[in-house]
Amino acid sequence: MSSFDTLHNNYEHNFIKYNAGFLKAMFGTADVTPFWIADMDFKVAPAITEALQKIVDREIYAYEFPTHKVFAAISDWFLKRHALQLDKKAFIQVTGVLTGIAVLIRELTNEGDGIMIQTPVYHQFANIIKTSNRKVVNNPLKIVNGKYQMDFKDVEEKIKSEHVKIILLCNPHNPVGRVWSKEELQKLVALANEYNVTIISDEIHADIVFDAATFTSIASLDQAKHITIIGSPAKTFGMQGIANGYLYIKNEEVHQKIKKAVTSLYLDHGNALSAYATIAAYTNGQEWLDELLVYLQKTIDWIHDFLQTELPQIQLFTPEGTYQIWLDVSGLNLSEEALKELFFHKAKLAFTPGSWFDANHSQYMRMNIASPLSVIKDAFQQLKTVID
Ligand SMILES: Cc1ncc(COP(=O)(O)O)c(C=O)c1O
Repeated sequence: MSSFDTLHNNYEHNFIKYNAGFLKAMFGTADVTPFWIADMDFKVAPAITEALQKIVDREIYAYEFPTHKVFAAISDWFLKRHALQLDKKAFIQVTGVLTGIAVLIRELTNEGDGIMIQTPVYHQFANIIKTSNRKVVNNPLKIVNGKYQMDFKDVEEKIKSEHVKIILLCNPHNPVGRVWSKEELQKLVALANEYNVTIISDEIHADIVFDAATFTSIASLDQAKHITIIGSPAKTFGMQGIANGYLYIKNEEVHQKIKKAVTSLYLDHGNALSAYATIAAYTNGQEWLDELLVYLQKTIDWIHDFLQTELPQIQLFTPEGTYQIWLDVSGLNLSEEALKELFFHKAKLAFTPGSWFDANHSQYMRMNIASPLSVIKDAFQQLKTVID
């Protein structure tokens, strides 16, 4: 039995994932097992707990921002994990990945400009664009032979017709689970360069990649123009509640502009707990992450087999990366309302409805699988019982 097999929530907490008020507001009932928000149910790597424990044991919480050590730890990690050499001077710390995206959009575009997203995609992208008074330009992904692909023809047409200034890329892609290949990214970069569009690449899921795929950072293709959100340790190490976000901007002029904006808003420093946990994660978390990836792969294999034999009406898009799975539930032949009734009220499962990620995807569901396999198995058994 691995440590990932145990559910640890029998202590006082206010985790959003389990919060009754949130669940009721979103799913119409709090009587559900939650598989929605991209948090993990797993305990973090022991190295993270040890680092945090040391800080707590000091019992002194003076101002302390060892940011340069954080940047060094991230750079070392990218070199050993992704064979990517990064320049420590190109990092800018922000309080979170979404904060970083919001600042970049505001600084690099004007109100009314077009920002392209590849739908269905993480729902906060559209929110950030709209609340910044910019225009959401959808570039829908295509399904070709059961696999999601980018529609480059549509990218080019919309760049020209919709005043697109930024392409907000999600790599690995939440929720469809693609890890974009080097060739796909090269095509996107070529189009962006041709039309003077900046790619902002959200790579928060970069480390959750399974054997069949290889992660390519935009930073490995073009550092002159495009911007990488190297992300944060949040998803990799399950530390969403304390993680900061990291921008990587090599272009000197853009770097200075963004640094100035971030500093003027006092968003450039996190806190000591976050910093030391991040250093510990990237320095000593490799073994834990390798075990996690094996565990998640085992879970995906189990779900794949279960759906094929027991619930063939539901189609799994086998993820190349992320711990979200994307399910096509159109084979159940139910309306959007009936699907919600079935999943939330009858099976008592809080899966995220596909319509969160794009209005046209009401026949899809996203499930977060970072839970013990026994919990996942129970969920699918419950689903099968109510469908039968
Ligand atoms: C693609 C993507 N970007 C950003 C975030 C959130 O990042 P943060 O909490 O650092 O703002 C998430 C969380 O699920 C995500 O999936």
